[in-house]
Amino acid sequence: MTSPSTVRVGIIGTGGISQSHGRAYQRIPGVEIVAVADIIEERAQKAAELWGARHAFSDYRELLALPEIDAVSVCTFNQAHRAPVVDALMAGKHVLCEKPLAAKLEDALAMISAAKASGKILHTGFWQRWQPEVQTARRIVQSGQLGEIYYAQMIGGDRRRIPGGSFLRKDFAGAGPTVDIGCYDLDTFMFLTGDPRPVSVSGMISYHLGKSLPNVPTDWGHVPADVEVEDMGTAFVRFENGMVLHFMTYWAAHADSLGPSLLLGTKGGLQLSPKLTLFRDEFGVVTNVEPKLPVVQDPQRMHPLCPKPRSLSMLCALAARLPSTSKVFCTVN
Ligand SMILES: NC(=O)c1ccc[n+]([C@@H]2O[C@H](COP(=O)([O-])OP(=O)(O)OC[C@H]3O[C@@H](n4cnc5c(N)ncnc54)[C@H](O)[C@@H]3O)[C@@H](O)[C@H]2O)c1
Repeated sequence: MTSPSTVRVGIIGTGGISQSHGRAYQRIPGVEIVAVADIIEERAQKAAELWGARHAFSDYRELLALPEIDAVSVCTFNQAHRAPVVDALMAGKHVLCEKPLAAKLEDALAMISAAKASGKILHTGFWQRWQPEVQTARRIVQSGQLGEIYYAQMIGGDRRRIPGGSFLRKDFAGAGPTVDIGCYDLDTFMFLTGDPRPVSVSGMISYHLGKSLPNVPTDWGHVPADVEVEDMGTAFVRFENGMVLHFMTYWAAHADSLGPSLLLGTKGGLQLSPKLTLFRDEFGVVTNVEPKLPVVQDPQRMHPLCPKPRSLSMLCALAARLPSTSKVFCTVN
């Protein structure tokens, strides 16, 4: 049943991750999936049947031409985000774009310019911001318990978890773990530390393991000869406020772990992974605080766009229903 307050959405790209968007939108009252589009027509048809969408297109521009659509999810490959995002914004739709926003800086800048020019919301699906760990870490940082943060390390990856298919192709993915999973860590760091301004970056990417190692059971079926992207990326970043960040992201390494992610401050330290822990000197002794985080009963609810709290916040942001402070919290620009 639709009403004037119904939010009408379209989904562009109906591959793997679009399933989470479709499921989430279906579970939020007052949201209707009106149309879907995919260059593979049968995929679009199948998704339209699954989600009860009235239209299935092979050209996303036909979807954008529907005046009743308020917002779109863009779930295409990284290298195919720019055109539908810019066109959707210029067609007056709010946009939720899958992460990473882009694999190339120029693409991201074009999308942000389009968002500013159109006045519509461009939101990147950085769902980790809604994880209890990250929300709690943010509250701890904002409370001042860490003092002045002078060093951070964001380290994420697996000893072996090399994906397959389009993730390994430069023309589809753009790059490897640096954009695939590293973008979450960078976003979390910026979210926690208040978007500091970087002034210098020294980095390295490595192509050694993905191209040479045969599959092991924890890999996702990669074919070494098909690997066109890096398997590890690392960087040392200096910020205008004096803070430094050591960033490392990997799909493969000959080590069980490359270390925890943490923030070091003048009054305390905060380990983000594997377990959120606050390190302080208290009562004349060194003290660890391990916050008791909410237990998530239904793992589906923790998926990127499943209902409350994440997808609902995102969708409300898309529909421009939240006050401006919330929008800042949710958007990229
Ligand atoms: N949030 C998460 O947890 C998560 C997980 C996996 C992937 N992703 C991101 O989601 C995006 C898609 O990944 P995926 O795994 O679903 O890929 P996928 O290959 O399964 O799906 C991409 C779909 O986009 C379609 N497509 C490509 N160009 C198009 C265009 N111009 N118009 C319409 N359709 C087009 C393809 O035909 C394909 O069906 C990537 O940016 C990826 O990084 C996010």
